Amino acid sequence: MSSLLETKIAARQHALREQGLLRQRKVLSVDRPLNTNASTSSPRFVFEGRAYVNFSSNDYLGLSRVPELADALHLGAQTYGVGSGASPLVTGYSDAHLALERELCDLTGHEAALLFCSGFSANTALMKTLFDQQDIVVADKLVHASIIDGLQDSGAQLKRFLHNSLESAERLLARNQTSALITESVFSMDGDCAPIAQLSALCRQHHAWLVVDDAHGFAVLDGYHNAEAAKLIDVQVVTFGKALGCQGAAVLGSQALIDFLVSNAREYIYSTALSPANAALALAATQYSTAHPELQQKLLENIALFKQLCREANVPLLGSDTAIQPLIIGDALQTLQVAEELRAAGIWVGAIRPPTVPVGSARLRITLTAAHAAEDIATCVAQLAQVLSRVGVPLVTERQATDDHR
Ligand SMILES: Cc1ncc(COP(=O)(O)O)c(C=O)c1O
Repeated sequence: MSSLLETKIAARQHALREQGLLRQRKVLSVDRPLNTNASTSSPRFVFEGRAYVNFSSNDYLGLSRVPELADALHLGAQTYGVGSGASPLVTGYSDAHLALERELCDLTGHEAALLFCSGFSANTALMKTLFDQQDIVVADKLVHASIIDGLQDSGAQLKRFLHNSLESAERLLARNQTSALITESVFSMDGDCAPIAQLSALCRQHHAWLVVDDAHGFAVLDGYHNAEAAKLIDVQVVTFGKALGCQGAAVLGSQALIDFLVSNAREYIYSTALSPANAALALAATQYSTAHPELQQKLLENIALFKQLCREANVPLLGSDTAIQPLIIGDALQTLQVAEELRAAGIWVGAIRPPTVPVGSARLRITLTAAHAAEDIATCVAQLAQVLSRVGVPLVTERQATDDHR
C-alpha cells in the first residue's frame, strides 16, 4: 500500500499533468566555451544535441559571457577561496562584500546595503523581518511570489491594488494606516514599469514607505537607478542574476533598516554568506555595466527592432517597452504547443503558465538581450508569425492582459 505522502504526490502530479501545468527541468549545455568566440553572436545553448537561440534568459546585457567578468570571478576565488565558509555574522563577511555594498550605495544613494544569495531570499527576509501583525501593507497585484510568501509569513495585513493603478493604490492608502507600499520597477511577467515617482509622492503624502523590487530594472532602466533613487524609494531590492549576469541580491535602504535586518533577518543570520568571489564578481559586473552604456543602447535597439518586426507581422505583443516582451495566448496547453513549435525552428522561448501568471493568461515570455544578433531577432519574429497562424492563435495588433494576477 502507498504511504499518505506517495498518494498525495501522485494525485497532485497527475492533476498538473492533465492541465498542462506540470513543470519539468531540461538539461542544457553550452554550444561553445566562453574562451572561444565568446561575445560575437546571439546567446545559444544545446539541448539534446541541437543548438537553440535563447530568447528566454534574463541576462539582458549579455554579461554572463563576458570574459573579463569570468576573470573577476576567478581572481575572487584565487584571493578569497571558493566559498565564504560561514554565515555573515560568524566569519562569512569580508571586505569583498563590503566593497560591493559600498558600490551599490554609491550608485543608488542609499545609506546601506545587505547582501543575500538570491533575490528570493532577500525579498522574503525583508518582508518577514520588517513587517508583523501590526502592519498594513499594500502591494501591486503582480508583485513577485517571494514578496507574497514573505508577507504571508510576516503576519501583516496585505491589501492588493490593481496593477499599476495610482487610483487604486491611493484608495487603499487613504482607507488604511499603511506601513508600506510594495511594487516592482519592471514587472517580471508583463514587462511594464511601475509609476515610481507618482507612487513615491503618494507614499510621502500618506507617511508610508515605498519598497521597490528592482530585480528586472537594475542596470537596465534609466531614471531612478542613480544617486537619486534613495530620494524616491525607501527600500530597493536589486538582484545580480538578471542584468548583471551573475548571482545574488542586495537590500538597500537606511542604515537603521540594514542594522535592524542584520540583527533580525533569519535568512541572513542562519545561512552561509554569498561567497566573496561572487561578491567580487557582482562588483565587477556592476562596474562593467556602468562603464559600457553601449550595452544598454544595444538592448534598446534590439527591443525596438523586435517590436517593429512584430508590428509588421501582426504578432500580438502586450505593449511592453522593456526587454521582457510577453505574448499572451491564454490556454496553457496551446502555449506549450507554440513554444514547442518554435523550438522545432531552433528558437527557445519561455512558456509561462499558471500559477506564475493568472489562469487564462498563459503566455510566451520572450526576452531580448544586448547580445542578440539582428538576424536572429528577425528569424524569431518570422517563426512566431508562422507558428501562431499554424496553431490558430489570432494575429492582432494589441491585446489587453487581465488585471487579475497571482
Ligand atoms: C521580480 C523578481 N523579484 C525577485 C526575483 C528573485 O530573484 P533571484 O532570481 O535572484 O532569486 C525574481 C526572479 O525571478 C523576480 O522576477
